[in-house]
Amino acid sequence: MKKRLVIANWKMNPRTSKEAFKLVNDLLKRISVLKKTEVVLCPPYIYLEKLSKISKRIGFGGQDSFWEDVGPFTGEVSGEMLYSLGARHVILGHSERRALGESNDLINKKVKSAISSGLSVVLCVGENMRDHEHAHFEIVKNQILECLSGLSRSSVNKLSIAYEPVWAISSTPDRRDATTEDALEMSIFIRKVLSDLCGVDNAKKINILYGGSVNERDAGDFLSVGGVDGVLVGKASLSPDKFSQIINISENIK
Ligand code: PGA
Repeated sequence: MKKRLVIANWKMNPRTSKEAFKLVNDLLKRISVLKKTEVVLCPPYIYLEKLSKISKRIGFGGQDSFWEDVGPFTGEVSGEMLYSLGARHVILGHSERRALGESNDLINKKVKSAISSGLSVVLCVGENMRDHEHAHFEIVKNQILECLSGLSRSSVNKLSIAYEPVWAISSTPDRRDATTEDALEMSIFIRKVLSDLCGVDNAKKINILYGGSVNERDAGDFLSVGGVDGVLVGKASLSPDKFSQIINISENIK
């Protein structure tokens, strides 16, 4: 059976490596052997080497990676480097990076490079806001088609798409909650876009996740009736108590 994915995006938290170490250990104390869930923590990459050695029960990932392997690119970190620190996943195209100017074109280069470095990619897509013309479907479709342009079909095993409507993310001012219907409708739409792009069977291999203020109260609903294969969790993943509840909910869904 395909495992559900529960991914933590720690963003630029916590403040120190010591706190990061404690967060992982506090989480591990609260979860047992995982049968139905694959848990991936994405801390700031500088913590990866130390954290990824703590336990084999959970996987690790980066929050971004550059498209070149090595060379004169000040401040950048490659997929190969992340891999060498113990990461097996990477989040790409997060809305907070898009807000800093990342285009679909750049993200496309990052996706290809990360996959060829052996990383599984969690590609984030999502509209900033919703309007009455339902432009969000076209926006998400374009993000997917442009970010995955030219990708080989064999890459589908290394790909997840996280639908994260920016208006539902915890740090968005005046945010509002997305409903399970919002997630279900978009997950069906994304599956259709992927099927048209790479065929029905290949599309089935791609995980679709929901992200945007997921917490211990609504994770069960998103996972059971939101039509998604997993969740991408920001703020609540910084609380071992809340995040372990989300993991345990995923383990207990039939
Ligand atoms: P949030 O973050 O759960 O704090 O809304 C999710 C994300 O931005 O990936």
